[in-house]
Amino acid sequence: MVTKTTTATDLINVFIADPLSEDGIFPLRQETELNLNIIVDTGLTPEQLISKIADVDVLLVRSQTKVTREIIEAAKNLKLIGRAGVGVDNIDLTAATEHGIIVVNAPDGNTNSAAEHTIAMMTSLARHIPQAYNSLKNGKWDRKSYVGVELKNKTLGVVGFGRIGVEVAYRAKGQRMEVMAYDPFLTEERAKELGVKKSTVEEICALADFITVHTPLLPETRNLINKEKFAMMKDGVRIINCARGGIINEDDLYDAIVEGKVAGAALDVFVEEPATDHKLLTLPQVIATPHLGASTIEAQESVAVDVSNDIIKFYKTGTVTNP
Ligand code: NAD
Ligand code: MLT
Repeated sequence: MVTKTTTATDLINVFIADPLSEDGIFPLRQETELNLNIIVDTGLTPEQLISKIADVDVLLVRSQTKVTREIIEAAKNLKLIGRAGVGVDNIDLTAATEHGIIVVNAPDGNTNSAAEHTIAMMTSLARHIPQAYNSLKNGKWDRKSYVGVELKNKTLGVVGFGRIGVEVAYRAKGQRMEVMAYDPFLTEERAKELGVKKSTVEEICALADFITVHTPLLPETRNLINKEKFAMMKDGVRIINCARGGIINEDDLYDAIVEGKVAGAALDVFVEEPATDHKLLTLPQVIATPHLGASTIEAQESVAVDVSNDIIKFYKTGTVTNP
């Protein structure tokens, strides 16, 4: 609930620290009842942000800016942090709570884009599309090295069956895959309704041909897929991570690929980002994108609209939609 309030006529400094869709922040720009001062200043180092944040009331970020305790404590007027996206793991929630700062995210706006990206990555992985593309661009007509596997009749294990996991399952079923799903909140009834097999992580490891993770990064999900889990998997399993770096232990994934246990991995996210010289990127079996799951015009507009509307709602009503 709201712990700090402001009257509608006060100047409200809204600081946008990561690139956000200009169409998405249109609600803020056209707002006339509130006295909003919108500052867009992206790509700052933590020190630069700290030096500029003392009078800021609202901080808006995507995933690049790490909203640390230091930043929160330097922002003496801060009342609200808006995250234009799902994961709030780049925000120190403990520090925010201690200082009575509300954190809002945009949980629905990029679901579709993230699910579509996951399916694109799985298909690219199965058919070696990035590797074949590179080979052809380098002047080789090599049809032997890139024989892939079909998705049809293969089993996809979905670990984390929330918004994105469910959308991935719908699409995988369209590819005529069998879908197994694990989520602590998944009921037998819901699984039946969605046409997936409610499973444990261990069952997924034992039976799936493709495994995709869609949990948040939490203490319980960090290293959820690790050496022990890889040992339980089928030889030739393929792994997809379009959720968060760290859910899959990167060293253990590297070893499992080198040992031949894992046939390939498609990664959109890494423990440390940017991840331009990561050892996983040296493996030909790994395909990767630089955290592009939510990078569509539609998703970026949608998440920015959602957080913008939340800021306006907060200042007008004292409540927010997704605290
Ligand atoms: P969501 O909250 O709708 O779903 C997450 C699900 O994970 C929930 O159903 C929850 O019950 C489940 N879960 C929690 N702990 C678990 C555990 N220990 N084991 C298994 N499941 C567990 O979130 P979402 O919108 O589906 O997004 C999932 C994650 O994807 C986000 O947290 C974010 O980190 C990531 N994401 C990445 C991109 C990208 O650009 N690559 C885009 C959007 C979201
Ligand atoms: C998210 O959690 O929403 C994603 O990481 C997308 C992003 O904001 O980059």
